[in-house]
Amino acid sequence: MAFNLKGRSLLTLRDYTPEEIRFLLDISRQAKQERRAGVIQQRFQGKTLAMLFEKRSTRTRCAFETAFGEEGGHPVFLSMADIQLGSKESVEDTARVLGRMFDAIEFRGFKQETVETLAKYSGVPVYNGLTDLYHPTQILADLMTVEEEFGGLRGIRIVYCGDGRNNVANSLMIGSAKMGLHYVLASPKELWPAEDLVAACREYAAPTGATITITDRMEEAIPGAQAIYTDVWVSMGEEAKAQERLKLLAPYQVNAAAMAATGLPETIFLHCLPAVKGQEVTVDVIDGPRSRCWDEAENRKHTIKAIMLATI
Ligand code: CP
Ligand code: NVA
Repeated sequence: MAFNLKGRSLLTLRDYTPEEIRFLLDISRQAKQERRAGVIQQRFQGKTLAMLFEKRSTRTRCAFETAFGEEGGHPVFLSMADIQLGSKESVEDTARVLGRMFDAIEFRGFKQETVETLAKYSGVPVYNGLTDLYHPTQILADLMTVEEEFGGLRGIRIVYCGDGRNNVANSLMIGSAKMGLHYVLASPKELWPAEDLVAACREYAAPTGATITITDRMEEAIPGAQAIYTDVWVSMGEEAKAQERLKLLAPYQVNAAAMAATGLPETIFLHCLPAVKGQEVTVDVIDGPRSRCWDEAENRKHTIKAIMLATI
């Protein structure tokens, strides 16, 4: 079934229904097949995309820029050294101006409020390329990768180890709840997600058959994990917490023992990247045969293209 998502922003997956997420994943698969087959289309010809980055990026920037450019569109990269956003000009006014010149806007930065304000005042689709709270485009790529591996999403046990309240963990919990996965978080209590978000995710989970389990015990979380996911222990902007995090999160490292403790030979390893090898994951796991993080990185491009195809 086709959905009309024209004009929609993607600020958080909380705003998307399971059917709409399914629709985006189907377009992603098609976009990947087209690229593999060398089919060249020009579906963004004559269109422009503003790409605003307050924080650094490899995958998200390159995914948006190449996906938009290879379809004939003109992406414009704007770092905080280039534009006035929030310093000399309010976010509202910047949004109004960009909305007059661009067909869509991507934003990566600190506050969720900024990406929401851009959407409110620009009048064009706005995509959240990561804020402190959410990373929705990442989770579409993660779901795509899980589906490629297991042929479906419903009932898959995905275990996230580490900082349970960062942007990636929050969004993975939302995406899992909406798409019927069993989301298990292994994290120290100090880093558990906000209670209102957990409650909302339990509501999303009710009709999809998903479950949300939160524990501080790795030995409870890991057995039966079909996918083990981790992310950095210190997210961008939290560098002052590095020492504290290293101590707190050491027991949650994904290593050979954790992979073996799933009891399943088919467990895959996922990481949004960039990784700090030797901290949240050991080299043998991330560079080993069960790692799917490079497919996951590639899938950022196909899923991001799908979002733009659906909404522009
Ligand atoms: N996973 C991810 O968002 O990577 P970048 O920070 O390189 O964009
Ligand atoms: N949690 C990480 C994700 C990077 C893609 C961060 O915010 O730095």
